[in-house]
Amino acid sequence: MKRFHFRYYFGGIALILLVLQLITGIFLTMYYEPNLREAYASVQALYQDSFLHSWMRDSHRWLAFFIVTSVVVHFFRSLLRKDYLRPRKRVSWLTGMLLILVILFISVTGFILPWEWKGYWFMEMVPNLAGELPFIGEPLKNGLISFFTLNRVFVAHILLLPLVSIILIDIHVFGHLRNRKGGIPRYLMMHGLITLPVIVVVAVLAATVQMPTSDPDIIPLPLEGRFVPTIEWYVLIFYVPFMYFENWIGPTLGLYLPGVLFLLLAAAPFFLRRKPLEERKKSKLSPTMKKVAAFVVVTSICSVFFGSVYTAGYRSPTMGCNSCHNIYMGRRMGVPPDDFRDREKLPLLDDNQWMVEHWFAPQQTW
Ligand code: HEC
Repeated sequence: MKRFHFRYYFGGIALILLVLQLITGIFLTMYYEPNLREAYASVQALYQDSFLHSWMRDSHRWLAFFIVTSVVVHFFRSLLRKDYLRPRKRVSWLTGMLLILVILFISVTGFILPWEWKGYWFMEMVPNLAGELPFIGEPLKNGLISFFTLNRVFVAHILLLPLVSIILIDIHVFGHLRNRKGGIPRYLMMHGLITLPVIVVVAVLAATVQMPTSDPDIIPLPLEGRFVPTIEWYVLIFYVPFMYFENWIGPTLGLYLPGVLFLLLAAAPFFLRRKPLEERKKSKLSPTMKKVAAFVVVTSICSVFFGSVYTAGYRSPTMGCNSCHNIYMGRRMGVPPDDFRDREKLPLLDDNQWMVEHWFAPQQTW
């Protein structure tokens, strides 16, 4: 039996990148100020201090993007390999699904922290989406809004969620590795090698393509800067249906359907059984052909997925918010107003569709 499975390398890549994410994250906590007045300024200051500071911050952003990307590939590969049918993999499957959720929450809390207009938007939109849930929606939404403080989001982002993810990762992979020859160190070394090219790409991207945060001297046009792929895209895709459909179709496509699909997939090992050996159809393909077929299928599914993430993200401005939300509009550039939580003063914030349209086409809907 082979001791080292290259077929799990996307999971391994995600793991190595997560370790780096932890390091860059610890670095950033030393500079970040988790309060509404200073948060944005503390992030901006990173770009004035030294190259190392801004590079660490941009690495944190790019790493996040690559982590979620490799998690998605890892997920589709496990799905197509039918890992949920293997009794021995049941625990890994479940912890893997939970990890997807936790990583999603870490991402969302991460978007909010810089507290510019984008962070603010997520802080308002996440409760809105939760509010679409049946029965628990309204109280959940109000709860999230009143619970919100930057400090709490910060604690969730740097402490609670990472802690949960470390426990899950331990059950997900480390448990098996401990019994394996070479154990965890060997696994980390091998995957570190495979991940090296990705690390180089992240390092170069972080140095050359900075995430637009600093106040620009020249105010950008509304849709400027939209081509930078950011981790936000993975979350925005759930909001896209709200842009095209009214009434129940938006939440159905953006929330219920993904939610039900997620629950079904997570529970798959518990209601699907593998057919006994003699009933299974013998595949006529040779082992090499099987590998080629698997590669083609995984690649096409991932292309469709990433393609839609890209087209959704492509339309969203990443820097353009400042072109209107700036000093000349009477609001300080980058920093949302103090009354941001008062939905009686700003009733538009309750309108999910308006919020989404304003994000994707601010020059048309405002
Ligand atoms: C074309 C100019 C323009 C652009 C670009 C723009 N906005 Fe706005 N935005 C406005 C105006 C005007 C309002 C006030 C609308 C109202 O209250 O009637 C507003 C309101 C908002 C609100 C809610 C109400 C408030 O004032 O607190 C949020 C949230 C918001 N914008 C976020 C964003 C984000 C995020 C971006 C970038 C993706 C963005 N905006 C880009 C013009 C713009």
